[in-house]
Amino acid sequence: MHLQPKRPRRCVLSVPGSSEKMMAKASATEVDQILLDLEDAVAPNAKAAARGQVVTALNTLDWQAKVLCVRINDVQTQWCHDDVIEVVTGAGARIDTLMLTKTKCAGDVKFLHLLLDQLELKLGLTKRIGIECLIEDVEGLMNVEEIAASSDRLEAMTFGMGDYSASQQMHLESVGSTGDYPPDIWHYPRYKMTIACRAFGLDPIDGPYADFKDLATLANESKYALTLGMTGKWAIHPSQVAIAQDTFSPDSATLATARKQKAAYEQALKDGLGAISVDGVMVDAASIRMLQNTLDRADLMGL
Ligand code: COA
Ligand code: MG
Repeated sequence: MHLQPKRPRRCVLSVPGSSEKMMAKASATEVDQILLDLEDAVAPNAKAAARGQVVTALNTLDWQAKVLCVRINDVQTQWCHDDVIEVVTGAGARIDTLMLTKTKCAGDVKFLHLLLDQLELKLGLTKRIGIECLIEDVEGLMNVEEIAASSDRLEAMTFGMGDYSASQQMHLESVGSTGDYPPDIWHYPRYKMTIACRAFGLDPIDGPYADFKDLATLANESKYALTLGMTGKWAIHPSQVAIAQDTFSPDSATLATARKQKAAYEQALKDGLGAISVDGVMVDAASIRMLQNTLDRADLMGL
């Protein structure tokens, strides 16, 4: 069952919640989703103050992004419950989703779900806050199916390759780098998480590529994620945003072909035909299901 709205997530720009300068810059950025971070981009001695900075930024800046998310510390830290209580109390009406870091099992999500139930009642919030999970350690990946099924507040899951590679003790140089492992070291976790997401109606999102000067590799990684069925990719720097937004948008030629094939197929059905040729390409019920995904994505993006 799915109660949360569908939202665009071609690119998710991560911004340290302790940096007023970067939050101001992010607010003016054309990007589908902003993630204001209280976790690893914020030093432990800055975490308590960052909650107030995030609340002020949410309430006072003119945000261009369509989706506003706050990333909270994981359930095994001393910060998690105060993160939720302070940001939802201070800016609950401005928050679309909370992102739970290092989600290991369904119980982690249920804790957050119940805490949100209580806060929404207490504060009289009418807009229901969604949950996104980060799958970024070996336990989380092992339990990804039960996590995907754990809450009807869930909207999306992100595969976070930085923490994940540490958790599995991989030998890699930087976050998101592919190492000496041809052809694709991220194939298995991306594939596994994407299956779980699609089975439960969630958006599968690809984590960050940290080397923000190497845009060619970012473009390739984004294409791999798109091909596998993922919805979008993170950016950790404004220079990465356009590549992700663009890669996960259907291009105009693909859209025109999809619309033409669908129209021709609808006519064919009226004529009693189940499979036809459109400009030399076979179109049948299965190919219509495939192209319908593209048309649905275009609708969501207003294309
Ligand atoms: N969001 C908003 N603005 C950002 C930004 C971000 N994620 N990253 C950089 N900027 C801004 C900088 O403040 C700078 O602004 P200015 O031109 O007004 O001075 C401009 O973009 C260019 O930045 P640059 O000088 O190239 O990088 P930097 O050295 O300032 O920052 C990082 C580099 C990696 C520290 C920074 O990009 C960052 O903190 N990224 C987010 C990290 C994060 O969220 N990690 C957790 C999730 S993995
Ligand atoms: Mg992480």
